[in-house]
Amino acid sequence: MDQVNKANMPVLDHFWMPFTANRQFKAAPRLLAQAEGMYYTDADGNPVLDGTSGLWCCNAGHGRKAITQAVERQLATLDFAPTFQMGHPIAFEFASKLAANAPGGTDAKLDRIFFTGSGSESVDTALKIAIAYQRSIGQGTRTRIIGREKGYHGVGFGGISVGGLVNNRRIFPQIPADHMRHTLDIERNAFSKGLPRAGVELADDLERLVQLHGAETIAAVIVEPMSGSAGVILPPVGYLEKLRAIADKHGILLIFDEVITGFGRLGTPFAADYFGVTPDLITTAKGITNGTIPMGAVFASREIYDGLMTGPEGAIELFHGYTYSGHPVACAAGIATLEIYEKEGLLTRAADLAEYWQEALHSLNGLRHVADIRNLGLVGAIELTPREGSPGARAYEVFADCFKNGLLIRVTGDIIALSPPLIIEKDQIDTIVSVLEDALKRAS
Ligand SMILES: Cc1ncc(COP(=O)(O)O)c(C=O)c1O
Repeated sequence: MDQVNKANMPVLDHFWMPFTANRQFKAAPRLLAQAEGMYYTDADGNPVLDGTSGLWCCNAGHGRKAITQAVERQLATLDFAPTFQMGHPIAFEFASKLAANAPGGTDAKLDRIFFTGSGSESVDTALKIAIAYQRSIGQGTRTRIIGREKGYHGVGFGGISVGGLVNNRRIFPQIPADHMRHTLDIERNAFSKGLPRAGVELADDLERLVQLHGAETIAAVIVEPMSGSAGVILPPVGYLEKLRAIADKHGILLIFDEVITGFGRLGTPFAADYFGVTPDLITTAKGITNGTIPMGAVFASREIYDGLMTGPEGAIELFHGYTYSGHPVACAAGIATLEIYEKEGLLTRAADLAEYWQEALHSLNGLRHVADIRNLGLVGAIELTPREGSPGARAYEVFADCFKNGLLIRVTGDIIALSPPLIIEKDQIDTIVSVLEDALKRAS
């Protein structure tokens, strides 16, 4: 077991940690105590380079003073106010600023914003909006949602139903859903730089599921344009375009879950901009406030919003919402975050670094245990061959080794995922790769 400095250690018994092997962690804890710029500081005072933007969320790096000040000001001005049959200015102001950045051009613009408190809430909100909209336009039999294998859409009952990760699903009941096949194909696409070439035909799975269930039962299809949590799975060239066309043909709404890809991760404000494919709904969270205050938002097309603005004027059009929808402090953090993104060009900075990042990551090709390397924008994955009889153990060993040597990476199964803050400099990319290289060489 690792040595633990007892002096800096809080009592660990009471916090039931999420998505964590609690007993293993509490026997050998890793605590992050502070953060500034590209670095965390651990509980013993050692710097840890952030290779994951926290959890895909601190896109502008840590300790941003403008966000701190905006939050302080807002707390002192209006700490909380409800948004049910009431309003406060900053929620409308933030929605307008988000709308100005929305993809889709002027016609299809997704500039109607529903606030939530997290990515999971954004997903469940989008699914409900899709079903409610279909009903409102006379398509009430459309209640099924199509997701995809290996998809991650958070942990609400809607999200796990359309998600495709077995451990998140196996013991919980689900809403009506079905799944297209995933697009990970190492046999055909290993070590692709950027988008993989093979696999556009996998989009035809939507057509197959239409034939199986009937289009009149399907409200929407939801995909991560680039899936992060399952280990960075990229869409083959042409795949998303094809999905859009099939969805259109059958009156199925297309939802992009951009909880990870939103706010600059691929070098454009949204993945929808990167791929030039406009969905009907976009789910976001994480980078919306630079991870500082929990918040999410669903971007809906005007057509969907208008389609639901029916019935008597005094009637609530959508029976859905959260106490914290449009929380004033989260909105203040969000506005300050957007200002940083704009001022520092962070929504497009990943595009400038993408090539350097790509070449740096692919320099690990050929190391023992490395089965695939994938990259897009400022996202990367290194997939390892699993250790016999012990899946995930090898990547976990690399994760622990990197942390000991001052680098935070993320692992899912035997896949190492990287998504550094968009403020990263080239020499820090070099550090990520060299610490990883050493850890991979040591891995048994
Ligand atoms: C694509 C996607 N959707 C939804 C979520 C859930 O977000 P949250 O953890 O904020 O509920 C995540 C989280 O990683 C995600 O990556």
